Amino acid sequence: MANPDYTALLTELADEHRRRSPISAAIHEQACRYLIDGGSHAIRLIEPFPPRITEARGGWIVDEDGHRILDLWQGHMANVLGHNPEIVTAELSRAFAGGFGTQSGLVDRLQAELAELVCRLTSSERIRFTTSGSLSTMYAVLMARSFTGRSTVMKAGGGWHGAQPMLLKGVAYRDGGVGFGGVDSRGLPSALTESIAVTNYNDPQRLADDFDRVGDTLACLILEPMLGAGGTIAATTEYLRLARELCSKHGALLILDEMITGFRFHPGGLGALHGVTPDLAIYGKALGGGMPVAAVAGRAEVMAEAGRATGPRVAFSGGTYSAHPASMLAARVFLEHLDERSNEIYPRLGELGAAMRTACESSFGETGILARCTGALDELSCGSSMITLHFPRAESIRLDTPEAVFDPDRCDVALRQKVLGLALLVEDVHLVLAHGSAASTHTDEDVAFLAEACRRAAERVARYR
Ligand SMILES: Cc1ncc(COP(=O)(O)O)c(C=O)c1O
Repeated sequence: MANPDYTALLTELADEHRRRSPISAAIHEQACRYLIDGGSHAIRLIEPFPPRITEARGGWIVDEDGHRILDLWQGHMANVLGHNPEIVTAELSRAFAGGFGTQSGLVDRLQAELAELVCRLTSSERIRFTTSGSLSTMYAVLMARSFTGRSTVMKAGGGWHGAQPMLLKGVAYRDGGVGFGGVDSRGLPSALTESIAVTNYNDPQRLADDFDRVGDTLACLILEPMLGAGGTIAATTEYLRLARELCSKHGALLILDEMITGFRFHPGGLGALHGVTPDLAIYGKALGGGMPVAAVAGRAEVMAEAGRATGPRVAFSGGTYSAHPASMLAARVFLEHLDERSNEIYPRLGELGAAMRTACESSFGETGILARCTGALDELSCGSSMITLHFPRAESIRLDTPEAVFDPDRCDVALRQKVLGLALLVEDVHLVLAHGSAASTHTDEDVAFLAEACRRAAERVARYR
């Protein structure tokens, strides 16, 4: 099927967005004078300009132009309970009023309490906190290299482990037969990029072949148990268990990057639901209850690479703001809440996620546009709040690999990546690159609102196909 030309539709949408949101447009223009592209995280900068937020509560945000917008982006997937959950903000307000909360540069009891809590929930032996997922995956790779005495790192095409030099390969899909084989940033020494091997996600045969080839030189295999940026594709149990088995057999470490998946489907990691125990795991996003904190956790003897007893061999240190007091407090309060209420929170999140996926698919389907959402965890019979919309070229196309969802011959990638965000934003729904998630504060009325917004967006798109 020929790829539709969406140029005229994008112009129509941009004009409408500008008309509806003159204040955000003006702020963006001002922002671009000093900030590269007007912001500090590329994918949040919806083109031609993003809505500038003044308020965010529960499932909704309010922008400078006074629009109330249904938000499925939810803090870049950090906000399982919605924006600014009161259990966290009330505790933070109390702490700040009592003279505790901004950076102290010291240690406190909260860090110890949170470490114990996260280790219990994730069955980890040791943990160290950082300020971002990017730093955490970088430290994990350093520890894996030091522990094994090997240098090659394997990741899956479509896997995103943050903007850090050791894993910036195989992230973006490139047409023309390159697929996920490319390097994703200039400025990286070739010795570094050559040390990254890229395998195929959810392809057990290819994984086994790759281990046959380079398994004995591998320091680690790092995988997301559900690809995020790579299309919200859930790993199969078979794939993850094989990854575990091959790593053990070849003496490589398995690192599960649970940045998106940790504490999202139950109060622990997604690996555990598959019966897979990694050597190291990365947590962040939901971990902080909306405050910045990430962590590397796992086997004591691997984490010991960063400890005094070994030298330390790995400089997993620094971080002026690491284990920030307010983040430690927010994370502890938030995780305790998730743990205590897991029986009500997770089933509700699963229900909302399923209803939202169905709503998106049906609304586009009614106008003759085939839409399918990834994000469900059908194989585990576990509810999932995750949603990414795709527009496959045919019903028969399976959306179980990142190659399938990024190949323009199999999916209408331009509709998903370029058009959808703006087409929904002018209907007061916010998601980024078709990625979203339900928060527990969303309601059945919000699902109906989403369905209606998708219907209107679909009708508009249909006129240009
Ligand atoms: C799976 C995964 N790993 C790592 C990261 C990087 O985390 P951060 O943005 O906190 O550096 C992200 C961020 O989106 C992610 O989704």
